[in-house]
Amino acid sequence: MAINRPRGTMDLLPERTAKWQAIEALLRSMCRSYGFSEIRTPIFEETELFARGVGNTTDIVQKEMYTFTDHSGRSMTLRPENTASACRAYLENKLYGQVQPVKLYYIGPMFRYEKPQAGRLRQFHQFGLEIFGTQAAAADAEIIAFAWDFYHRVGIRDLTLHLNSVGCPTCRAAYRQALQDYFRPYLNELCETCRDRFQRNPLRILDCKSEICRKIGENAPSILDYLCDDCRNHQEQLQNILHAAAIPFVIDPRLVRGLDYYTKTAFEILSGQIGAQSAVCGGGRYDGLIEEIGGDPTPGVGFALGLERVFAALNGQGDDVETEDTLDVYIVVANNAAQPLAFRIADQLRRADFSVEMDYADKSMKAQFKAANRLAAQTALIIGDDELAGGYVTVKNMLDGTQAAVPHQDITKYLLER
Ligand code: HAM
Repeated sequence: MAINRPRGTMDLLPERTAKWQAIEALLRSMCRSYGFSEIRTPIFEETELFARGVGNTTDIVQKEMYTFTDHSGRSMTLRPENTASACRAYLENKLYGQVQPVKLYYIGPMFRYEKPQAGRLRQFHQFGLEIFGTQAAAADAEIIAFAWDFYHRVGIRDLTLHLNSVGCPTCRAAYRQALQDYFRPYLNELCETCRDRFQRNPLRILDCKSEICRKIGENAPSILDYLCDDCRNHQEQLQNILHAAAIPFVIDPRLVRGLDYYTKTAFEILSGQIGAQSAVCGGGRYDGLIEEIGGDPTPGVGFALGLERVFAALNGQGDDVETEDTLDVYIVVANNAAQPLAFRIADQLRRADFSVEMDYADKSMKAQFKAANRLAAQTALIIGDDELAGGYVTVKNMLDGTQAAVPHQDITKYLLER
């Protein structure tokens, strides 16, 4: 029986990969403008990192991790996200010794054992930013501005930025209590998961998708009424900067993220184009996370976007990423005798950074020209009997049909000048 790819994973074939590369190139070039440098952390980490970092009470840690025991009996986990790993790398490599803030980005696969559906995969890809070492609301704004700018550049419309503050451990304790007081009379009516959340993490009840829990939660107290002065000021400052940058947002006091590490700012950008899994990105501040995994208290803020959802949003509005796939040179040979020369010229041109293709299958010249057209070759180099005998190559401009005879040793120079 044939072996298929695992459920919830994708093969990216060359045509699609080119589109992914175009998006990745845009993100990398934006990182240069915004001053973020790339880090690459391991695909797997000690399970403890995510248990402590992402949080034991989250769905991710409780149900969704790909965890295995290695040959030495250590528990390892395929990373379900990259923020905890970035914090670990910041600590382990003593990046706190560098000029702060430290601004990092990453792109790569993440793994969550979720129920696969449109826009929800088991291996998916995130691009993310993290800023370590500053409490300034301007850093939160910079993260959000980057995300907003990116979707604008890619041409994704119909987006809404949802913004909230989830407070800090001080103000959240009072809010947690208020939520428990509110939900206690309804405890028997809540879904099973939320009954469990009632003790572990009552904030997550606000995020439940079940109709009944939603209805019950409608009049639940708002976190915004419980923020301490520090959290309130931070949120106000952030909103002022977003107004100044003309980035529209809605305040969403029910926005609680699925990871436990957030403090103060939490945000998501939702798309109207991609169905139920509508979050194209999410992030926020995590001032307690580095301490949680063993460092000195260090503030941090960041976000991650799902690359699959970028394409889903584009497709939803009937667009796709444009890529320009052309070939610089196709070498057309009349017969086998010309192959060694063709190979040598291809080699020279590739070393000079031209993209070059040639035929290996002894096809007719007509078929070779057809292949050149299919690959959108800009130039054809023709090596026939006359050319072989005369020590030159016919260079044909495929766009306007003009031809020139160029000696072998001058071809690279000729094409570079053209
Ligand atoms: P997250 O909200 O879990 O946050 O994921 C961020 C984004 O990754 C989501 O908005 C979504 O676009 C995409 N995503 C998540 N799960 C899946 C999935 N199963 N299939 C496809 N796409 C998915 C985080 O991961 C945080 N680490 C973000 C962050 C960085 N917060 C601070 N810094």
